Amino acid sequence: MQNSRPMRGVRIAGTGSFLPAKKLLNADLEKMMTTTDEWILQRTGIRERRIISAGESTSVLSAKALGAALADAHLSPDDLDLIIVATMTPEMPCPAAACLVANEVKATRAGAFDLNAACSGFVFGLNVAHDLIRGGAYNTIGLVGADTLSRHMHYCDAGRGTAIIFGDAAGAAILKATDDSSKGLLAQAMHADGPGWKDIYVPQLDRDFPPGVQPTADAINHVQMNGAGVFKFAVGTFPELIAQTLEKAGLRADDVDMFVCHQSNARILAAARERFGLAEEKLYANIDRVGNTVGASVPLCLDELRRSGRVREGQKVMFVAFGGGLTWGSSLWQL
Ligand code: COA
Repeated sequence: MQNSRPMRGVRIAGTGSFLPAKKLLNADLEKMMTTTDEWILQRTGIRERRIISAGESTSVLSAKALGAALADAHLSPDDLDLIIVATMTPEMPCPAAACLVANEVKATRAGAFDLNAACSGFVFGLNVAHDLIRGGAYNTIGLVGADTLSRHMHYCDAGRGTAIIFGDAAGAAILKATDDSSKGLLAQAMHADGPGWKDIYVPQLDRDFPPGVQPTADAINHVQMNGAGVFKFAVGTFPELIAQTLEKAGLRADDVDMFVCHQSNARILAAARERFGLAEEKLYANIDRVGNTVGASVPLCLDELRRSGRVREGQKVMFVAFGGGLTWGSSLWQL
């Protein structure tokens, strides 16, 4: 029986990104807490990260990234049917950062909402936005991944386990319907482990601390992370997720032109690369320059890769991320 709805594909029509100007070097952190450049570099691969200054926030960074993506796609804000901002650091509980972005870029026709899956947010967003377009409900979606975790850091000894890792940024992609039905998702996955929530959380009130953990005023509104636990989870989950996604698509690692992975820790990325015997240039890394930028990490990599010509139409690209929740997900595309 013939499907009444025409089959259509989804393409990534443009990308953009924005990094705040203010750099935080390992040498700067040495002055704020008991740590060393050597320790940070060896454990994480990070040399510097960017953080916001007065007047900057998640929606401000997001609007700049989305504006750049629209320009790249040769589209105007009024072409957008929907804006999705993947973030765990909106300015306020209400309105959504996506509504502030719609206002800032003057996207008068677009619906707008936020999606929170921490570091996995942009990859989850790719899967959601793709199917909204493939199903025919929307034609053009602006998807942003943006976070300003510096707001939840403690730049002192009490926060040295997290302050060395996280940076602020935004990245965006324009997803658009195309008549070429071969373009779009080949396979995807979205997972969560509820009991794992205790490994990364940002408590707001005393009731938010896990059983057995004594609430302290110092911890409120600051990221609490079980670094070693997350490391173990990630080293196991990343390769498993890649293998599962390849299997769903009936592909081998060699068939994929580029792996765009959440930049959490250079050692976690290296472990995934080794497991699949991937050449260094097939698994992009920019963590040394920007740190872990949470929801912005994957779209920032994508934008850098597209602008340098290393990711282009016709290729197969796998996006992979994991993070707080705990959450983890993948999105394998035929571009
Ligand atoms: N500088 C110097 N020493 C530090 C330090 C810092 N910034 N932070 C912690 N240490 C110390 C610890 O106090 C500990 O000392 P001790 O042995 O005397 O108690 C020692 O270094 C080892 O600490 P540990 O937490 O076991 O280090 P690690 O090798 O696991 O590295 C992380 C810490 C955070 C870099 C690492 O666990 C990690 O990257 N985890 C994954 C985090 C992640 O990806 N999060 C984002 C998810 S999206």
